[in-house]
Amino acid sequence: MGDSPGAVVGVNAAIYRDATVEDAPAIARVNIDTWRTTYRGIMPDAALDALSYAHSQANWCRVLQNPQGRSFVKVAVDEQNGVVGFAAAGPERTGKLDFEGEIYALYVRQSAQRAGLGRGLVMAAATKLLSRGYESMVIWVLRDNQSGRAFYEHVGGLQVAEREIAIAEVMLPEIGYGWRDLASALRQQVAHHD
Ligand SMILES: CC(C)(COP(=O)(O)OP(=O)(O)OC[C@H]1O[C@@H](n2cnc3c(N)ncnc32)[C@H](O)[C@@H]1OP(=O)(O)O)[C@@H](O)C(=O)NCCC(=O)NCCS
Repeated sequence: MGDSPGAVVGVNAAIYRDATVEDAPAIARVNIDTWRTTYRGIMPDAALDALSYAHSQANWCRVLQNPQGRSFVKVAVDEQNGVVGFAAAGPERTGKLDFEGEIYALYVRQSAQRAGLGRGLVMAAATKLLSRGYESMVIWVLRDNQSGRAFYEHVGGLQVAEREIAIAEVMLPEIGYGWRDLASALRQQVAHHD
């Protein structure tokens, strides 16, 4: 997989590849639709209702227009539905944690969940982080997102930090999950599927 944009056929015939700027509209749709199916009852309704596809698309365009930047996005593409999930990743952002890489966002459309794509995206992002020299990684998840937390625990994440973030003027607690040795974590995930 490495640092090349070459597409890799993964579990359940989904393809994991580097996103391009042409993927921005599809990524924005997955991002907003999945926020709404995941965070209703966790985030304020007003914040979820106010989300805009156009605004999100513009943000993803900005990220993807800079392929030399240090962050990257992997997409999971299925033949019938196109982009059904994505992971955005890069260097750890606070500079205060003992982790080198970070997955910034991980979303799989509700209709495609529990089919192995989340694991595939974590593996694709972790492989690329490793290829860039990041040997550990962290992911932040809202404390009340029990399903997301169960997934991260299932794929080997350990609780390593806590913080609060402001979303729509509300402070929400988050848990940081860490993988200290990405190479061995990846080997375990690959073995899980052999
Ligand atoms: C969390 C998310 C990325 C997981 O992706 P997914 O494609 O649904 O999960 P996978 O099918 O790859 O699951 C991989 C493994 O984790 C397990 N798993 C997944 N979700 C789980 C859950 N809620 N509870 C327990 N185990 C879970 C699966 O059973 C599977 O285990 P197995 O291979 O041993 O059978 C996806 O469900 C999602 O986008 N959810 C909404 C948004 C979100 O919470 N994002 C993460 C926080 S930012």
